[in-house]
Amino acid sequence: MSLQELGLIRKPASFMTSICDERGQELIYAGMPITEVFKSEIGLGGTLGLLWFQRRLPRYACQFIEMCLMVTADHGPAVSGAHNTIVCARAGKDLISSLTSGLLTIGDRFGGALDAAAKQFSEAFDSGMLPMEFVNKMKKDGKLIMGIGHRVKSINNPDMRVQILKDFVKQHFPSTQMLDYALDVEKITTSKKPNLILNVDGFIGVAFVDLLRTCGGFTRDEADEFVEIGALNGIFVLGRSMGFIGHYLDQKRLKQGLYRHPWDDISYVLPEHMSM
Ligand code: ACO
Ligand code: LMR
Repeated sequence: MSLQELGLIRKPASFMTSICDERGQELIYAGMPITEVFKSEIGLGGTLGLLWFQRRLPRYACQFIEMCLMVTADHGPAVSGAHNTIVCARAGKDLISSLTSGLLTIGDRFGGALDAAAKQFSEAFDSGMLPMEFVNKMKKDGKLIMGIGHRVKSINNPDMRVQILKDFVKQHFPSTQMLDYALDVEKITTSKKPNLILNVDGFIGVAFVDLLRTCGGFTRDEADEFVEIGALNGIFVLGRSMGFIGHYLDQKRLKQGLYRHPWDDISYVLPEHMSM
């Protein structure tokens, strides 16, 4: 019998984690017993802080995270993800299939630009580029600035979600360097086209960089790593799940039948080789 079979050598663990859920009787979130989580009234934002960032965040940070979840929760039935959830629900699918159908739509163009915006803006800022130089470089490279642009919101039809977050961040964050930089970029892009605003993805992306860098709970490497591994897109995914589930329940409650797109809303384009 080998030493391992005799139980004298511990088998290597099958997977590694830094999240431990139980110690003795109590459920633990990042070292904080669940009774303490409730006693200290850290809310959903603080709970997310414990589970995603593995530390207790300052009160304003917990409030900010909770506000991000609230403002991203829904934007009506017409947006790409909600539309997919609705079509899926109307095809008779279950809650999880309909929810994930919506979630799978999240990406660069829709709700998934937070981390990329955080990266692009902070790389430009950290390298000392002026906002105008950044805009020009992106144009020259043929790249879109993540977190800029919206289909319906513009300087003439401002996005109140962004305004609400901006008021809070300006009042509570110790520093808003990255946000200020992004707002200077927005001044330039909106002077070209009124819908090239700092959108809700972009706002949360840059404000989160300010939060991670200046709240005192993270080293600079840790702050960069959370952006690198996609924590910020997680905020939109989590927030919007609330809305998608709402749309699923709404369709079921309204007993909506199978969706079929109306013919008169489809235009046919002949393949080039078939046109005269
Ligand atoms: N950076 C630079 N230029 C841009 C950007 C951008 N982010 N977005 C649009 N433009 C330019 C286009 O190049 C185009 O220029 P042109 O007229 O010279 O060709 C013009 O603005 C219009 O572009 P459209 O693609 O028609 O803009 P549209 O309104 O359809 O797109 C969208 C909106 C998809 C959000 C787009 O702005 C984009 O991809 N932005 C970056 C990604 C992003 O932030 N996504 C999150 C959106 S917010 C949310 O989903 C909750
Ligand atoms: C959203 O929050 O889903 C939107 O801002 C995107 C859109 O297309 O309106």
